Amino acid sequence: MSIRSERKEEHLKLAQMFFNKENYNSFDQLNLLRPALPETKVDPKILTTSMFQKSVAAPFFINAMTGGSPQSKIINQALGKIANQEKIALALGSASILAKEKEQIDSFAVARAEDPDGVLIVNVNPATPVAAVKAIIQELNADALQIHLNTVQEVAMPEGDRDFHWLNQIKEIRDQVEVPIIIKEVGFGLDQATIHTLKNEGIQYFDIAGSGGTNFAQIENARNPNDVSYLEDIGLPTVVSALMVQKEDVNFIVSGGVRNPLDVLKGLTLGGQYVGISNVFLQEFNEHGEAGLADLIANWKNELAALIAVYGKTSLASLPEIKKYYDLPLKNQIDQLI
Ligand SMILES: Cc1cc2nc3c(=O)[nH]c(=O)nc-3n(C[C@H](O)[C@H](O)[C@H](O)COP(=O)(O)O)c2cc1C
Repeated sequence: MSIRSERKEEHLKLAQMFFNKENYNSFDQLNLLRPALPETKVDPKILTTSMFQKSVAAPFFINAMTGGSPQSKIINQALGKIANQEKIALALGSASILAKEKEQIDSFAVARAEDPDGVLIVNVNPATPVAAVKAIIQELNADALQIHLNTVQEVAMPEGDRDFHWLNQIKEIRDQVEVPIIIKEVGFGLDQATIHTLKNEGIQYFDIAGSGGTNFAQIENARNPNDVSYLEDIGLPTVVSALMVQKEDVNFIVSGGVRNPLDVLKGLTLGGQYVGISNVFLQEFNEHGEAGLADLIANWKNELAALIAVYGKTSLASLPEIKKYYDLPLKNQIDQLI
């Protein structure tokens, strides 16, 4: 196995090892006001929405994780099947490996083969050569492209990038690809100034991927002979990052630490068009297989529809109207930053 494939397999093992379903995070400090008499009725059909000009059955999706290794291929095939069955979008893990190891394409293409008409999002790092990015989009018939910004992860890796001049490369990719571009973090959150800069460069979609769930400082620390555990707490919490991106009036995805349908609802009330889930879905797959994850997603749809009715709403568009209030530690951060 190549170094890159091996790294992905290690990430998969460590993401499982460190997974903690009960992790407390910023969603716990965001509260929603609920009418005791909502005068609504549960209707899962209201979850149907559009994403990159295709219809999806829910505003949440499986976010970027796998590709480029043997285990990734097994997982991507299952995720493709589930995305197809449940009619939700799927983002694949970084395909930058294909710039150097073309033979790894199968580990990504299996997902498209299982879900030929669904919303499939591909993912690269910002240093990926434009020609490779274009080939990835074309070969996987991708509906959108995620470019991940992951400085903290890179410095936590002994073999990681040390040059973070990424803007020109992002602009070049922007000029040459035809699908929508989503700029995403990997669990440390996007700040408002970065979103503002990229918005001025014509980027229209952002995936905040804030802290509170998968922690790549922790994962890389376990692979690093040096102790870099001090990096584990420097992320921007998902709720804070969402409130920042909200100010910039752009389309955005809320992700990072989403554990259940209530977190999905909270992400939507923060103004996210969609909510992305990574490790919670991956660990359900690890524990209960393809059928288990498909069931979980079907349940989340029903439970999200039920929650929307409980909170007195009848459409996705009206969810940001739900009154939000914050526990003091989170309110304190918001007051300082926003
Ligand atoms: C095993 C694993 C692999 C990941 N690989 C990628 C990747 O290749 N590209 C990327 O942008 N994000 C990657 N991520 C980050 C996720 O897309 C997401 O931003 C992060 O895990 C936070 O979401 P979560 O708390 O729901 O897991 C990966 C996450 C996990 C758990």
